Amino acid sequence: MSQTKEIPLMEKIVSLCKRKGFIFQSSEIYGGINGFWDYGPLGAELKRNLRTTWWNAMMREREDVVPLDATIIMHPAIWKASGHVDTFSDPMADCLVTKKRFRADHVEPQSGIALKYLSAVPSGAVVDLASQFGLGDGAILSWMGPSLIEQNLTPEYVCESFRRKIAEQLGESAAMGVPEAVIESAIQRWLSAHVIAEFKVLLRPGKPKESADVVAKAFYEARGVKNPVLIRSQTEERIENSRSFNPENGAQLTEPKPFNLMYKTYNGATATEADVAYLRPETAQAIFVQFKNVVDSTRVKVPFGIGQIGKAFRNEVTPRNFTFRSREFEQMELEFFIPPDEAVRLVHGSVAAWSEGADLSMPQTNWGWEMWHRYWVAQRTAYYAGIGLGPDVLDYFWQGKADLAHYARACVDILFKFPFGTEELEGIAARGDFDLTQHQKHSGKPLEVFDEELRAAAVKLTDEQRAAFIAEVQEDWNDHNKSREDAALFCERLLKGFYVPHVIEPSAGLDRLALAVLTLAYTEVEKTDAKGNKETQIVMRFHPRIAPKKVAVFPLLKNKPELVAKARAIYDTLKKHIAADYDEGGSIGKRYARQDEAGTPFCVTVDFDSLGEKGDELKDTVTLRHRDDGSQERVKISDLLGRLLPLVS
Ligand code: GAP
Repeated sequence: MSQTKEIPLMEKIVSLCKRKGFIFQSSEIYGGINGFWDYGPLGAELKRNLRTTWWNAMMREREDVVPLDATIIMHPAIWKASGHVDTFSDPMADCLVTKKRFRADHVEPQSGIALKYLSAVPSGAVVDLASQFGLGDGAILSWMGPSLIEQNLTPEYVCESFRRKIAEQLGESAAMGVPEAVIESAIQRWLSAHVIAEFKVLLRPGKPKESADVVAKAFYEARGVKNPVLIRSQTEERIENSRSFNPENGAQLTEPKPFNLMYKTYNGATATEADVAYLRPETAQAIFVQFKNVVDSTRVKVPFGIGQIGKAFRNEVTPRNFTFRSREFEQMELEFFIPPDEAVRLVHGSVAAWSEGADLSMPQTNWGWEMWHRYWVAQRTAYYAGIGLGPDVLDYFWQGKADLAHYARACVDILFKFPFGTEELEGIAARGDFDLTQHQKHSGKPLEVFDEELRAAAVKLTDEQRAAFIAEVQEDWNDHNKSREDAALFCERLLKGFYVPHVIEPSAGLDRLALAVLTLAYTEVEKTDAKGNKETQIVMRFHPRIAPKKVAVFPLLKNKPELVAKARAIYDTLKKHIAADYDEGGSIGKRYARQDEAGTPFCVTVDFDSLGEKGDELKDTVTLRHRDDGSQERVKISDLLGRLLPLVS
């Protein structure tokens, strides 16, 4: 999905993040640890604000979603049931020269000519053979060359070929004169020295073949061939858009192997392999396994959701793009439980299906899964708009049938236009009843809900209507490769009012969202100072709702106690309600610039007018400066909080 490359911009953002305390490399003083990041003072505030916006939009402001806060380590059987133990893996390939590990499906496609090295011989061995037979190195090499090696390499075959070659070069009698033992030992040495798997190097257009030889030499040297003399096939292969070569040196990569991304740990002081546990790779599974407890302990009724924010861990093959793909990250996930379409049909007679332009503003009781899925896409889009991520920076990727997990009915990725390409911010999947059914099966505990309205609707059916309903469901399931027996069992429970709810899952990454808003906020502005010098200043244009600090308060001068006292009093009042900063160091211009880089949307300056030096009209007023256009206005101190609160919350 990568589209654009603006690495310099990303480098500037990474550097600003460190300089201003948004994001630091984890364990930096020990050289860092790949895939782990810490949030500094401003970053921690930013992340907290993002968490709050999600929490409020997805739970607090809704009546149909409740929260959960589950543990990171859970019963390992959960990950077997969910499929993570068996299938949560990425394909991994290693460079055969540098051993660098790649995620096979993320290797940048390469084109060029593949040079095939059949083998390599230690140069000493060549000289040795040459001197034994009184020949030049070239002759020996040509014997060992492609014609010989491309054949089946049995000692008998090679021995025979050598004799033939010696005869060609020195004549029959000379060939007969070379003692058998000499030829055999030479051949044995030769075979053991160079029977090494063939190796390919991709030569990019315009590069000399010698550059590929350097890579091949390194390959053979790493396998114990000293000063290798390379034997290269005459056949060259044209390669187009291949992921089988290391983009950095052209070396062939190993065949991709699946690599499970879950971090393993062990429970207890006397732990053995039987006590293995995993750090959760997603927060979602805790929601499924606590589903029954939530239903039993609250008054929720399907359709309803359970939301959770928390850490997840994935041993990513190649963490990359700053925090975008990390090994420890935070997810904000909602599992929204809905009735199966068959239940909706029984109760309402039909199921409202999705069509372009359908009204998604208010959920309806006759909605099927498709409407719910579209509804959540619309809800999440509105959420992003509310924190400044409008349609100009978002995109959508509707997964095709081939991309979908086997249990998923639909999945859309909400993408953000990052400087390194348009990439996934959030996935919204319609997961059917896969998860709850799996946990029901593996735990042996029922995870169905009972729906009185459904049972009442079923009771009203005549025998013929029941039979027709079951036949219809069987037909439909059959079309979706599900067995008629399973359909009959499902109908039997449904007609008694029981079903396993289906799920719509909007799953967002908090760190990706933080990175998105950081890259979106980053703006460079040309400023001219008092002496006419031009300089570039950075302004972080965060939406005020998510800005780490909402307001900064300054006394015009720090050596005027009356100004300082008034400014501190304002700060003390504001900081109880909104994240505020106090700054009295340097010129006002410098202080504005500092706050612009931190992304603070408002600055308040207490000056001599605030003290009443120009009369009562301006007394107890301050300058309120707006970050994005630099405009300033005079505001009464008593009005400040009332002005700012609605803008930042
Ligand atoms: N429960 C579904 C699930 O976990 P996912 O697409 O694997 O789905 C959801 O992850 C979101 O979590 C992604 O859209 C992304 O924002 C975030 N995420 C996943 N892996 C991540 C990683 N290695 N680093 C940062 N964020 C990640």
